[in-house]
Amino acid sequence: MGKTVRNIGLSLGADICWPICYEEILRAAQIDVPVGNDRVTVETERVEIRPFALDQPCRFDVVIDRLTHWFHTSREWIKKSIILDDLYVFNNPWSLQSMEKHTSYVAMQRLGMPIPPTWLIPPKEHEPSADLQSTLSQYAKLFNLGEVGDAMGYPMFMKPYDGGAWVGVSKIDDEAALLAAYEKSGKQVMHLQKAVLPHDVFVRTIGLGPQVRSVRYDPGAPLHDRYCTDLDIGADDLSLLADITLTINAFFGWDFNSCETLLQEGTWYPIDFANPCPDSQVTSTHFHFPWIVLSNIRWSVFCAVTQRKMRQCLDWEPFYAIADEELPYRERIAAYAKIARERLDSDRFEEFCATHLGHLDDVAYVFFGSERAKEAVRLKVTALFPEHEIEEFTELFWGRIQAWRNDLKSTALNGAG
Ligand SMILES: Nc1ncnc2c1ncn2[C@@H]1O[C@H](COP(=O)(O)OP(=O)(O)OP(=O)(O)O)[C@@H](O)[C@H]1O
Ligand SMILES: [Mg+2]
Repeated sequence: MGKTVRNIGLSLGADICWPICYEEILRAAQIDVPVGNDRVTVETERVEIRPFALDQPCRFDVVIDRLTHWFHTSREWIKKSIILDDLYVFNNPWSLQSMEKHTSYVAMQRLGMPIPPTWLIPPKEHEPSADLQSTLSQYAKLFNLGEVGDAMGYPMFMKPYDGGAWVGVSKIDDEAALLAAYEKSGKQVMHLQKAVLPHDVFVRTIGLGPQVRSVRYDPGAPLHDRYCTDLDIGADDLSLLADITLTINAFFGWDFNSCETLLQEGTWYPIDFANPCPDSQVTSTHFHFPWIVLSNIRWSVFCAVTQRKMRQCLDWEPFYAIADEELPYRERIAAYAKIARERLDSDRFEEFCATHLGHLDDVAYVFFGSERAKEAVRLKVTALFPEHEIEEFTELFWGRIQAWRNDLKSTALNGAG
C-alpha cells in the first residue's frame, strides 16, 4: 500500500488561538484513511505571502482562508490556485468578493425568508472622480430621507450595505436621529433596516460544511459574554435555524458562515447572514470554541481526503424553482435545505466521520486539558486585553473550555450507558 499526503493550508490574518489548536489536534489525531490502494494522511501548514507567477503550481489540496476578504494578494493567489490546480477553499473567494450584505438580503427575500423591510440609500458624500459631477447632476435625484423613514417606521437600524464588526451601525428612533446619522455617514453606502424590536431571543447559528451550532447571542453584553451558553428553544426551532443557515451557505458557496436571527412573535427574522469569515476566537466564542476547531478539522479533513470538488459556479436556479412553487414556509425551507445538504455531501460526511474520525473527540478532550491549549488561550488574551486582566480572562475562558470538556465527557458516558 502506498502512502499519500494531503496538505491543508491555513491562510491567516490576526488569528492566534484556533490555528494552534487546529494544528495540535490534527497532529495528535494521526489521520490515516485507506483510499483505494493507498493510505492517506493529512498535514497542515500556514500559507505564506510571496510573489507568484500565474502558472506557479499550488501544493495544497485544501485551504482554510480567513484573510482574503481584505488581503487581495492572497485572494488572487487563491483564485489562481482554484482555477489552475483545483484547490478547494473555504470560502469561495469570488462569492466572498461580490456577495455583500445587501445581495444576501435580496437573495434570501427572493427565497421567501422574512427579511425585515430594508432600503439602500445613496451616500451623503462621494470620492472625487472624473465623471462624478456629470453623473450626479444628471442622475442623482434629490430625495427626502424623512419620507423614507416614515415609509419604514421607527425604530430602525442604519448600517453599511457591506458591513461587518458593527462598524457604522446605529439604532435610529426618529427622523432627527435619522438625518443626523446620514450626515455622519460620509462616503459609506448605507442600509436602513426596520428594527426587529423587541424580540424574544437572538440566535447566531454557525455553519461549517454541513455542521451547524446555534448559540444564543446577547449583543448588549461585553464582548466575552455575547456568545451565551443557555439557548432555550425547541427542536423545531433548532431544525429551522439549521435549515436556514445551510440554505444560505449552500446558496452562496460558503463553507463557513454565521447567520443571525431574531425571534419575534413566533417568526424568525434573519438580520445578518453575510459573515463568511465568522468569529473563531476563543475570547468571544469560549465554550463554543472547541466545537469550531473540531468542526473545522472534520470538514477540512473530509474535503482533503475525499478530494471533494469545489463548486466554482453557484447555480441558483434549483433554489428559484422551489421558491416559485409557493410551498408553505417550513416545507419550502426544508426543500432548500435538502439541496444544501446534497451540495454539502452531508450523508457522506457523516459516514466519513463515523468511520475515520471517531477518535477525534477523545484527542480533543485530552488536548483541551493540556498546557499547550491553555497557552493558546493566553496568547490570544494577551493580544487583546490589558496587562492586568490577562490572568483573570485566561482563567475565565479556560474555565469555559473545561465546562465544554465536562459536557463532552458526560455525553460520552450517557451514550455508553
Ligand atoms: N433589523 C434589526 N433589528 C434588530 N437589531 C438589529 C437589526 N439590525 C442590526 N441590529 C443590531 O445591530 C447589531 C449589528 O448589526 P449587524 O449584525 O447587521 O452588523 P454587522 O456589522 O454585520 O455585525 P457583525 O459584527 O455581526 O458582523 C446586531 O447584532 C443587532 O444587535
Ligand atoms: Mg451581525
